[in-house]
Order: sequence, then C-alpha cells, then structure tokens
Amino acid sequence: MTISPQIPPSRLAPTTQLSIDLGDRGYQIQIGCGLLDREDCVACGAKSSQALIVTNTTVAPLYAERLQRVLAAHHSRVDTIALPDGEVHKDWDTLNLIFDRLLGDGFDRKTVIYALGGGVIGDMTGFAAACYMRGVAYVQVPTTLLAQVDSSVGGKTAINHPAGKNMIGAFYQPLRVIADLDTLDTLPDREISAGLAEVIKYGPIADDDFLGWIEQHIDALRARDKSALAHAVRRSCEIKAWVVGQDERESGLRAILNFGHTFGHAIEAGLGFGTWLHGEAVGCGMVMAADLSVRCGLIDGAYAARIARLIERAGLPIRGPRLGASRYLDLMRIDKKSESGQIRFVLIDAPGRAGVHPADDALVAEVIDAHSV
Ligand code: NAD
Ligand code: GLY
Repeated sequence: MTISPQIPPSRLAPTTQLSIDLGDRGYQIQIGCGLLDREDCVACGAKSSQALIVTNTTVAPLYAERLQRVLAAHHSRVDTIALPDGEVHKDWDTLNLIFDRLLGDGFDRKTVIYALGGGVIGDMTGFAAACYMRGVAYVQVPTTLLAQVDSSVGGKTAINHPAGKNMIGAFYQPLRVIADLDTLDTLPDREISAGLAEVIKYGPIADDDFLGWIEQHIDALRARDKSALAHAVRRSCEIKAWVVGQDERESGLRAILNFGHTFGHAIEAGLGFGTWLHGEAVGCGMVMAADLSVRCGLIDGAYAARIARLIERAGLPIRGPRLGASRYLDLMRIDKKSESGQIRFVLIDAPGRAGVHPADDALVAEVIDAHSV
C-alpha cells in the first residue's frame, strides 16, 4: 500500500519556472502567457541542430507556423509533421508516420523533436523520441489544459493497444515543458472540462486546500479566467513534479496520480478509444473510486459526494456507460497496477491523502452498478 505524504504547500510566483528534480534528467517547466513567441523560452538543444515539430491537423493551423518561425532562429532546419487528430490515432500506424518522416528526411541523432498539441501528441511524440536512433531529445509544448497540468510533465510516453490504454510505451523525460496559457483560448469547452478532471484529481490525492480552492474557482476556470488557470496549472504541475521527483518510474507513490484512471481506462477502452474524452472518463472514474473508498471504510460519504459535485460542476459526466460490471472488471484486470490478475485501485485514505488498495470484485461491481446508466 502506498500512502501519499503531505505535499509541500505552493511557493510559486505568478510567472513560473518550475523545476522537476530528476538529477541529470531534470528539467524546467515554463508556465505563462506569450511563451510561444519567445525563442529564449522555447528553443532547446544544440544550436544549429535539426528540429521536427510533431503536431496534428487541428493544432497545426493554429500554432505550428508561429513555433516554426521562433525555432528557425535556433535550429539549422525546422520541419513540421501534422498527424491525424484523435485518441483513435494513438497507435502504431500513426507512430510510424513520425519515424517515416524522420528517416525519410535524414534527421540525425542530434535532432530535437517538439511535441505541439495535447496529450495524444505529447505521449506519441515522446515515445517516438525515446525510440528514434535509441533516443533523441524532445520538448513538450502542451496546448490543452489536460496536457499542461498532467501529461506533458513526468516522462510517461505511450501508444494504445486495442487491448488496453497506454500499454506500449516508455519512461522518457523531455528537455523542457513550455505551457503557454494563451493556447487555451482556442480550446473547445468540452476539452477545458476534460482538463479540469486532472486538475481536480490533485486535490483529494495530495492537497485538500487545493480542492477547496478549485471549488471556489470552478466557474472562473470554466470561463478561462487567466489568473485562475495560471494558478491551477502551476499548483498541478508543482504537485506532479514533486511526486515524479520522488518516484519517477512508479514503483510506489506515483500510482496516486492514477486516481480514477483504473475505472476511466475501462470506460475508454470499453466504449472504443475517443468515444469519451480521457478527462471525461477520468472524471467519472474518480466518482467511482471515491465511492469505492467509502465502501472500503476509508472516507465518509460526504467527502465522496463533495468530489462528485465538483466533477459535475466542471461539466463532466458522473455516471458511466452501462458496459456491465463483468466487462469493466475484465478491462480493469489488464491495468498496469494489477498484480497477478488482482486489480489494485487508487483510493482516498483521508482528505488530501491517497493509497493503492486491492478490493473485492463484488464491492467493485456494486460501485459500477451504482454509477452506470
Ligand atoms: P488530445 O491530445 O486528444 O487533445 C484534445 C483535442 O484538442 C484534440 O482534438 C486536439 O487536436 C485539440 N487541441 C489541442 N490543443 C488545442 C488548442 N490549443 N486549441 C484547439 N484545439 C486543440 O487530448 P488531451 O486531453 O490533451 O490528452 C489526452 C491524452 O493524454 C490521452 O491519450 C491520455 O492517455 C494522455 N495522458 C497522458 C498522461 C501522461 O502522464 N503521459 C497523463 C494524462 C493523460
Ligand atoms: N498521469 C499519471 C502519471 O503521470 O503518472
């Protein structure tokens, strides 16, 4: 059982450069407005090295040209590849398009790859960087709220397999993370809500005061108030950086970041990737995991209800699809936290504290039945 320790309170100034402490794999997370236009913030790696921007067909017309222009001052050559958009394309075929481009156009091992987009692009690009010529440098330029508060930080890279979410991948840290809050201006409302799921996650697992702050600012966050978003991204990254700094490869503590994800991944895989957004599935998964925490006697019902209410106020579904409890259980058994077929859940041990626990299938089935429509 892993129990989250008390995470240090925030010490951040409004314009932030955070460090993630991983020795020679450590790096900076830059958070602010207007960063995409600043060569000093964005450009990384050796001067005059080659660069490839990996993005998708939605994000490319919005931001690729700007990024390409700013990088041109630093790199000898900057190209862009725009992949098809969507979770359904987080697969081998799309990954191979990156390798085809890198090999076909003679990119060498000093190349820096820039992942410009949401978590799908970040995860796939990071995995491509981990594999290409046994590893080239990459930079995360997250453009969704979800990617800015979670997926761009910490070095988890992956593609999906039809049997399960993020099953093929590697731990591989970026050179830097550049979270330009201005890119959130063009994000659809549904994606803002999906990102808020991962913001809310940090409260129950690590910082109950932050949960209270999110409750007070949820409407401002949905309305994209920049100062509220800046605080949410900063505190989320601060907590994530602290956790990853303790346990980079998830031998214990890092698992708490998967609160709601065991149920959520089952929803995503069960419905077919891309039907529900990842953040929507995680939001609903947190409602289920909070209820399981109650049924395991760890927290009282009022705390679980508080979490569910906030998830609903974030614009997220709080009832899962009726796939049937046995289908959920089958899908959850291949979760990466499972041991010898025994599913392990991240549960809330106390407000702001989480741990990893096994649970009886019968109890889990009750939770699923209570929260699916
Ligand atoms: P996403 O990457 O699919 O992006 C969501 C949508 O927003 C896409 O259609 C994208 O094209 C569009 N988009 C991106 N930026 C935009 C912008 N600025 N303006 C307009 N549209 C924009 O989804 P996501 O929610 O960012 O990421 C979800 C993925 O992240 C999942 O695959 C999940 O498994 C992964 N993830 C990884 C980690 C990790 O630690 N590596 C953590 C959490 C989630
Ligand atoms: N999003 C879970 C993790 O990074 O560990």
